[in-house]
Order: sequence, then C-alpha cells, then structure tokens
Amino acid sequence: MNEVSNTVSFLHDEGYDKAFDTRNLSHETMLFMGGRPTEKLNDGWLFTVDPFDTGLRQHWYRDDSLDARQRQEPWDFQPDFGAPINLPASWNMQEERLRYYEGAVWYTRWFDHEPHRKGERLFLRIGAANYEAKIFLNGRFLGSHLGGSTPVFVELSEGLEDRNRLQLYVNNTRTLDHVPMRHFDWFNYGGIHRDVELVRLPRIFFRDAFIRLAPNEQGMILVDIHLSDQVSGTALLTIPALDIATEISVHDGIGGARIAAQPDLWSPGSPSLYDMEIRFGDDTVRDRIGFRTVAVDGTTVLLNGAPIFLRGICVHEDDAQLGRVRTEADIRRTLATARELGCNFLRLAHYPHHERVAQLADDAGIMLWEELPVYWAIAFDNPATYADAENQLLELIKRDRNRASVIVWSIGNENADTDARLAFKQNLAATARRHDPTRLISAACLINKTNFRLEDRLAETLDIVAINEYYGWYEPDMTGLEHTLAAYDIDKPLFISEVGADALAGHHGGEADLFTEDCQAAIYREQIRRLANFPALCGLSPWLLYDFRSDRRQNTFQQGWNRKGLIAADKTTRKAAFAVLQAFYKALTAPRDS
Ligand code: GCU
Repeated sequence: MNEVSNTVSFLHDEGYDKAFDTRNLSHETMLFMGGRPTEKLNDGWLFTVDPFDTGLRQHWYRDDSLDARQRQEPWDFQPDFGAPINLPASWNMQEERLRYYEGAVWYTRWFDHEPHRKGERLFLRIGAANYEAKIFLNGRFLGSHLGGSTPVFVELSEGLEDRNRLQLYVNNTRTLDHVPMRHFDWFNYGGIHRDVELVRLPRIFFRDAFIRLAPNEQGMILVDIHLSDQVSGTALLTIPALDIATEISVHDGIGGARIAAQPDLWSPGSPSLYDMEIRFGDDTVRDRIGFRTVAVDGTTVLLNGAPIFLRGICVHEDDAQLGRVRTEADIRRTLATARELGCNFLRLAHYPHHERVAQLADDAGIMLWEELPVYWAIAFDNPATYADAENQLLELIKRDRNRASVIVWSIGNENADTDARLAFKQNLAATARRHDPTRLISAACLINKTNFRLEDRLAETLDIVAINEYYGWYEPDMTGLEHTLAAYDIDKPLFISEVGADALAGHHGGEADLFTEDCQAAIYREQIRRLANFPALCGLSPWLLYDFRSDRRQNTFQQGWNRKGLIAADKTTRKAAFAVLQAFYKALTAPRDS
C-alpha cells in the first residue's frame, strides 16, 4: 500500500485503488445467521461524501488519535466530523443535495467491545450496501465486497480494542463491468440499505446449513452442514415436531444426513413450517423450514407433485420516502396487498430483495421468484464481471435456500442473445443447480419482434421459459401476442414475467389515451383475454404492483417515475387495472389451483 508522506503526495497516483479492490468478502465469508442474536450497529454514524476517492488516496481510515486541530499538517478529513446518520438509509433520500449523488461516501462510528467468552470471534454483517463496500477497523483495511443487494460478512476478531473505530466506504458509481451495468430502469440509490450488526461466535461455528426435502425421493429430508474450520465431530439436528433428533457426523468441517420423515408439505394453501435446531460444540443455529418440492412436467409446474398456476405480480424495492430501504411494515403491506390482489406468487425484480421478504413469504404462503441483476447490457465477455455475478448468485442462494417460498432462481432479465451472454448465463445456471438442485431456473427472455418467435437460445437451459411482453403498450396491438403464443413450441412451461402499461393514477380518458387508467385497464383486459386459455402458460407476473422511481422517465405523466404500477407510489391509491387483474386471479383460483 503506497505510503502517504504528506497530504499532497497522493495527488498523482491513479493506481491508488488497486490495493483496496480485493473482493475477498464473498459467499465464502458468509456465515449461517439462523437463530443468532446480533447487536445492531445502525445508529450513530457520521457520513462524509468523497467524490474523488480522496479517502482512499489520502487514507482517511488511518490513525485518528491526532485530533485534526492538533495535526502538524493539514488533513482533509476528521473521523469525528460528518453528517450524523442512522442506518439503514439511502443517502439520496437523506439530504436534497445528495438526491442524484453517485460516488463514494464514508460512514464512521465507534463501538466498545469486550468478549463474552474466551476464544470468542466477532463478525460484522451488512445486510446490503450498494454497490461496492470496503471495511476498515481501527485503521486497518479488512476487505472489499461487490454487489448492491446481498449481505457482506467480515471477521473483526483480529485487532479489536476496548474502543474501536469502524469505517465503511460505499460507492454506488455505475460502471461498465458491474452487475447491473450502467443502464437500468430503476433509481440508483446509494447507501447501506439493510441492517449493520455484530455477531459473536465461538471459535468453531456453522458457516452454512441447507435443509430440504429430497427433490426426487418421497419422504426423505436431506441436510448439509458446513463449519468454519476443518474439524471433525458430531452435530445434533433436532426437529421436535417431527420427532427428529439425529446425530450428523462431521469430517473436516463438512457433514450431511438423509432422514426419513413425513412432514406436512408447505404450500400456499398450507404454509407448514417446522422449527429446527443444529448444535455443534459451542455453536447452535435455528431456522423454520417448510418442506416442499417444485418441479416441471412438460409445460406444467408441479408443487408437491400437483399442477399449480403462478398468479403473480412483480415488485421492486422502492419507496417514495425511504428509497431502497424496506421496513417490516412495508414488506408485510406488500405481501398482504399481493394476497388481496389474488396472488400466490411474487417476482422480486431485478435483484435480491431484503431477507425478510422470503422469511415472511414462508409464513404467508406466497411463492417467490428471486433474481440476479444480470439486466440488459452486461460485460458478458469480462471474467471479472462473471465472477461478480456468480458471487452475487451464490450469496443469494446461501442466504435464502432454506426458504420454502423461494421456488425460482432467475439468472437475469432481457439480455440480447449473443454467444458471450449465452455462455455467461449457462454457467450461472450450472452454478445455481450445483449449489441448489431443488429449485427451478428461469430468466426473462426477449422475443424476436420481426417474426414474433421466442428464439432465445437460453430457453434450452431454463426450466421455466419466461418472456417480458408489452403488446398493447410498447408494441402496437395484440396480434403480436397472438403470433407469439401460436409460435410457442417449446415443451416447457411459459411464464409471462412482465406485461403491463403506464398510467398516472387519477388520469382518465379513452382506452387509446396513453397514460390513462382507462388505457392501462384495457390493455390488461386484452392481454388476459388472450393469455387466459393458453395451455402452456404456467403463470404471469404483470409489471408491477407499485409505481417506482426511474429517472429515465421524464414526460409529463412520469416526472421521474415509472407509472406501470397497479398502485401509485403512495402504495395506497389503486388504479382501475388492479381490479381487472384481481378478477382474473379470483376466477383462476378455483379450477386451476386444484
Ligand atoms: C422492461 C424491464 C423493466 C422495465 C419495464 C418498463 O421489461 O424488465 O425493468 O421497468 O420493461 O419498460 O417499464
């Protein structure tokens, strides 16, 4: 790391960032969180913008023992000076001057620490920081993480003092090699969007635990556990409601078991969950597991072996006041509103949502599509971009693969069909299947608009073929939809992952008047009329539940918002099309959900 002899010697070094681009914080440094008490570090941060990365150049994380007023030379930062802020927060929403800020910022706070037991290890968990995070403790750089929507874990144990200075660098600059790249249809919020917390662990602890029903064996539970260290011994798994108390032998930190059991199966109509606990040495983890299977048979999706139709809607993580931050109440409202719409399925677009969504969806009996932000143009020929995408996928899978509600891993949305993109996504699909063979793989594909055929070569790799189609809105009329459906000849379920139209809530006119509620409702009616009886259709998730910020949208009706929501950005005002979709789902619920 380049030594800074004084506060100006760094001015000419454009290689300053290489030493901080380690990307060592990844799915490999994750730890299993189920049932663990944590100590929140959300409050009492000091916030400093850093548009030229002066902080990395001048090492703002260095020794703060010198009060800036006592320094022998001018310094451009004081760790004890900055805008007070409590997390989680999108900085765009905390101050008007930061609404459109894209760049680096620094969060600084102190925390006192004393171990609760000998040999204790201390970890930091950041629920999500968009896009890049770098972590510094007491003047030492601990590591960097890429990806704006998956958790970051780092061990703090070395170098802890009684009083500790923690500094987090976060940078949301869009670049040509990130995932997503620099062009997407949502607001590029920056910040730490989910909780920051400390986790105290014994020397040996559970890094991962995956419990599920065997996909192809009736009445068999599979368990895989992964410890922090390559030690051997015996773990104990208990699921009291199933009278299970099974010893699992562990060798070099890895253990597994097959346990015969007949749990009540999880489904939207009966979201049965079982409390489970696993102990090894001084570590105990807990989780609530729903046992179910999901598969495809020809053009049908099977849940627990029975056909099910996915009555969905898309959702973003966006809030008029909070930006990307979700509250428990907001998540519960989203699930309740979706249920009222008649949904049994949510497409969480276009990136991993807050972990509470899948936890609460388990309870609510709502199935989920979780998605990797491999969105539109991506540097598909860049190995570092692939590594970033694959790591985000593995962080999502390891975070949520014990959630019964998650039935689809989506490896992206609307990418042009090129050789590089095909290889990139085939590799992602293979990685997903290797780490979780129990779920379906999909992606939102594009239609060839000249012959209306679905010719995306990725379809061969997918379990569910999904398409985004906007006939009646971006395409002139519904004949294109009729041609697309008539031309569909793939023996796999077809899922309409997006369909819809913009409407400004309260704006009315003729059915041909764009951005009116009447036009949006008419397009929903015409779409449903053609989709309702298409045999290969396994479900749909219209775009989308709520209006959301997108500064690509600047006409008089949009003014910085994408207005395709069935509900306005206030998350209360419903548009006419809500009732159109609700009536369709209500009619569907009887016959096709048997
Ligand atoms: C695309 C894309 C969405 C976008 C939507 C729209 O299909 O997947 O992210 O917001 O269309 O144009 O509104």
